[in-house]
Amino acid sequence: MPLVTTKEMFEKAYNGGYAVGAFNVNNMEIVQGITEAAKDLNAPLILQVSKGARAYANHTYLIKLVEAAVIETGLPIALHLDHGDSFETCKSCIDGGFTSVMIDASSKPFEENIALTRKVVEYAHDHGVVVEAELGTLAGVEDEVNVSAENSSYTRPEDVQEFVERTGCDSLAIAIGTSHGAYKFKPGTKPQLRFDILEEVSRRLPGFPIVLHGSSSVPQEFVKIINENGGNMPGAIGVPEDQLRKAASMAVCKINIDSDLRLAMTATIRKYFNDHPDHFDPRQYLKPARAAIKDMVAHKIVDVLGCDGKA
Ligand code: G3H
Ligand code: 13P
Ligand code: ZN
Repeated sequence: MPLVTTKEMFEKAYNGGYAVGAFNVNNMEIVQGITEAAKDLNAPLILQVSKGARAYANHTYLIKLVEAAVIETGLPIALHLDHGDSFETCKSCIDGGFTSVMIDASSKPFEENIALTRKVVEYAHDHGVVVEAELGTLAGVEDEVNVSAENSSYTRPEDVQEFVERTGCDSLAIAIGTSHGAYKFKPGTKPQLRFDILEEVSRRLPGFPIVLHGSSSVPQEFVKIINENGGNMPGAIGVPEDQLRKAASMAVCKINIDSDLRLAMTATIRKYFNDHPDHFDPRQYLKPARAAIKDMVAHKIVDVLGCDGKA
């Protein structure tokens, strides 16, 4: 099966009350860990590549790694540009074989967001590619852009219908309290996503797929391993998984997870080096790191997304 778009995946996810995981990829071990879990569980999959990932690993290497995963797994896999920041970046990914792109103009005024998103949609649809857009601003760090909690803003449900109609986008990322990175909420506070906003958005956009960014849960066992093995990540807190599961049963069809994979990989490698100070063959520490990513993704597929068996 060749790479697919997210169209059919999202229709099935919306009707089935589950979400598809969108995991960020930067190198071979990450691609392998994610796709091995999805294959074992027969889950649909979105592999996403940020601007930073393209700069780090090179577009062609990433495309070929993902194509290899399609051959190895036979799964429906979409290759998605995460947080495209300009028409040119989106065009380059569309021309270069991606099946889905995000144009993230959420930090621009409403009319500018519409104009840029519309331009990307026209080009993408002419080439059989789908487009994710964003309304509302998440806090946190993405591609070196740091949005503070004060400058973040929830999506206004009264804007979504006009935005989707005028842009023609295929899915919409909304801000309901998630944020990027490992430091999402203040320690001691009780994180609570704004399900009232999600409900109102989906009432105004019946059947339309909604996307949640910033959906890592920052498992405390991994933070502990990192801190016990020379790291320093006090106060790293994420989104409760039961709230993500609830969102997946509603209109949310795509849930973005990156930080949790980074934590699993880093905790495993830190511990490995502490346990084996004399080892220096990268295969020795990348092998358990890849296995930790696989375990993390399997847990997300079964316990958070609910997309096991849905490929
Ligand atoms: O939302 C951002 C993703 O976690 C990608 O992060 O821009 O550091 O590759 P990155
Ligand atoms: P996390 O930092 O919560 O993993 O979010 C990832 C993301 O939204 C990628 O676009
Ligand atoms: Zn994101």
